[in-house]
Amino acid sequence: MLSPASISDYRELARRRLPRLMFDYVDGGAFEETTLRANRADLQRMTLKQKVLRDVSALDTSITLFGRNLSLPVILAPIGFAGMMGRRAEVQAVRAAEKAGVPFTLSTVGICSIEEVRRTASEPFWFQLYMMKDRGVVGEILARAAAANCGALVFTVDLPVLGTRYRDIRNGMGVRLSALSKLKLAWDFAAHPMWAYDVGVRGRPHMLGTLGDVLKDANSLGALLAWTTTALDPSVTWKDLEWIRGQWKGPLILKGVLDADDAREAVKTGADAIVVSNHGGRQLDAATSTISLLPKIAEAVASETIILMDGGIRSGQDLTRALALGARACMIGRAWVYGVAAQGEAGIAAVIETIRRELRTTMALIGKTRVGDIDASVLQG
Ligand code: GLV
Repeated sequence: MLSPASISDYRELARRRLPRLMFDYVDGGAFEETTLRANRADLQRMTLKQKVLRDVSALDTSITLFGRNLSLPVILAPIGFAGMMGRRAEVQAVRAAEKAGVPFTLSTVGICSIEEVRRTASEPFWFQLYMMKDRGVVGEILARAAAANCGALVFTVDLPVLGTRYRDIRNGMGVRLSALSKLKLAWDFAAHPMWAYDVGVRGRPHMLGTLGDVLKDANSLGALLAWTTTALDPSVTWKDLEWIRGQWKGPLILKGVLDADDAREAVKTGADAIVVSNHGGRQLDAATSTISLLPKIAEAVASETIILMDGGIRSGQDLTRALALGARACMIGRAWVYGVAAQGEAGIAAVIETIRRELRTTMALIGKTRVGDIDASVLQG
């Protein structure tokens, strides 16, 4: 490939660059990956109406979200362990996002800490939270996010337990390995020397992020992995959302809503926005695709809250499809990680610019000059 043209091309470059264990962790989904595929397939099935002879010489892709101007209706989604795919990827991502004029969301389980990202950022970035059993730890992390002036809190609610991912198990993740399996894993890493040097050596991924300080004497990647599986709180309920609402003064976004009644409950409990999300098909396999559920949820709460969506967004056309059905903006997760794995910060920038270009071209061909004007009328029906 002389020049990557699409997000699929960045995916292919990431596949070549990363050890299989890492690529599959990002690329894969839960169980049989039915929902993972449905997210993409249901988007691709939607057709857009071509309109001609409109003046499309001036296109505006910007939106306003929580009082901030976004140059594109895109947010970089929180990705756990992103710093294992690219060297201190979270820092590279916040830089690329700022230059592109879109928000970056730092994961609770990022390799870089809130403070490390804050030192790089010149604008407020978003922070994602998982509810953990130890509310003291949660309170501490929220205080750190507030001190770092994070622009929004993304509370992920679709992970009371971790989804079962066959690819990860087959690749030995979280599994006690035999000596032979360990050798195979070491071979996989050694067969990807660019990654091994860039991420494993220069990236110092053992220098753990936000949770590193919390874990203290168990500060290693293995310890973090083990800790996250036991620290998450499966007893979390709407009452806890109320508690978080009381703790967090800024915009509060509930990520992982897939049901209209849950969306109404989220609004009632004080969420400022929701993300219609099935965690990129990584949690409940057999869950319906996000794009299929979006219209019902939009019908229920669009007049009362801001609706974001993720799940399978890989192009400006996909973005257009989601906006047409009621999303204000979309999160992209795997797309930016493919970019950082392939080419670091420049790769993330290229992924965002690819989507921007595709969105502009699509808008011109459907005869819409402002993203705010994209509604159901652009669908072929
Ligand atoms: C964590 O959020 C994951 O999906 O692995």
